[in-house]
Amino acid sequence: MTSVKKIVVLKGDYIGPEIMTAGLSVLDAATRNEAFSYELIDAPFGGDGIDRAGDPLPQSTIDVSKQADAVLLSAIGGPKWDNAPRRPEQGLLEIRSKLNLFANIRPTKVTQAQIDRSPLKPEYVENTDFVIVRELTSGAYFGKPRKLEAHQAIDTMYYSEEEVTRIMHQGFKMAQRRRKHVTIVDKSNVLATSKFWRRIAHEIGESYPDVTIDDYYVDAMTMAIMTKPATFDVVIIPNLFGDILSDEAAQITGSIGQIPSMSVGESGPNLYEPIHGSAPDIAGQGIANPISMVNTVAMMLSESFDEKKIANKITAAVDYVIENHYVTPDMGGTMTTDEVTQKMIDYIKKYESADIK
Ligand code: IPM
Ligand code: MG
Repeated sequence: MTSVKKIVVLKGDYIGPEIMTAGLSVLDAATRNEAFSYELIDAPFGGDGIDRAGDPLPQSTIDVSKQADAVLLSAIGGPKWDNAPRRPEQGLLEIRSKLNLFANIRPTKVTQAQIDRSPLKPEYVENTDFVIVRELTSGAYFGKPRKLEAHQAIDTMYYSEEEVTRIMHQGFKMAQRRRKHVTIVDKSNVLATSKFWRRIAHEIGESYPDVTIDDYYVDAMTMAIMTKPATFDVVIIPNLFGDILSDEAAQITGSIGQIPSMSVGESGPNLYEPIHGSAPDIAGQGIANPISMVNTVAMMLSESFDEKKIANKITAAVDYVIENHYVTPDMGGTMTTDEVTQKMIDYIKKYESADIK
């Protein structure tokens, strides 16, 4: 008998719950005939945490997450909590830090079906398949001192040797399983933390002789993502720069509403979340793109539970809706969240009965 996997569900704000519902229905459909059993544990978090438990990250949510096999999170935040003493985003940074999730993996892959939707010309975007490895628990997001006063403000960009070393190993190891190329992004013509980042990257790189390295300043990298995205494999990047460039990278797939992410630490559960925000402007209209959350569920099945077969079923369903243009308005379609989700579920049922592999 296989053990029941515990999945903590942080349902998110605005479009968060809409796409979480979609992701969970696809999870249900894809696992129905499989020997994979799971238990969903709902916990308050983000704006929902403030509303239900008075804080964006209640202690009970940290405790239950630490005990889980995986944490599934949807987009959080929004104007409702702009003036809250602790904003939802604070909860997000804290859960990353408290679970020690130092590496955030954000894939950018443009499939044949997506090429038409890309804002880039096909010849630029063809064969794009790279992964951003974003440092997630240090850098400008966490450095101290940090101060906001009437006439001055301070943020601190800090990195320790240990923090840079572990993210480099993460990225180089990933490159060994892929096309064996690493791109180091920094601003080492100006910033001390970036000089440090690049030096350690090359030192660590020596223990991965099969992996080639190139270096980019972050400003030049924003251009290269547009002009030669297919040349990248694994991109290792500090926290703040990674936040910015991962949105740019996502957009070349045609919509950020498709992109999942995974945050990993040295031990403990991984956290899975779409990379986009809670889109208050379209919340409640039933038109949020469910694909990011569905891809997030597939990533969880593959990476935390090694359920590649179930994950493949789900990604095949995603390819199917994109190829047939059964998509929401952000991808140029006219379908609702529920309609797209239903198409994916129908496909999964058909896929199973035809036993397509
Ligand atoms: C992301 C988001 C978060 C970040 C925000 C919501 C705090 O933009 O996950 O990319 O900046 O890390
Ligand atoms: Mg971001």
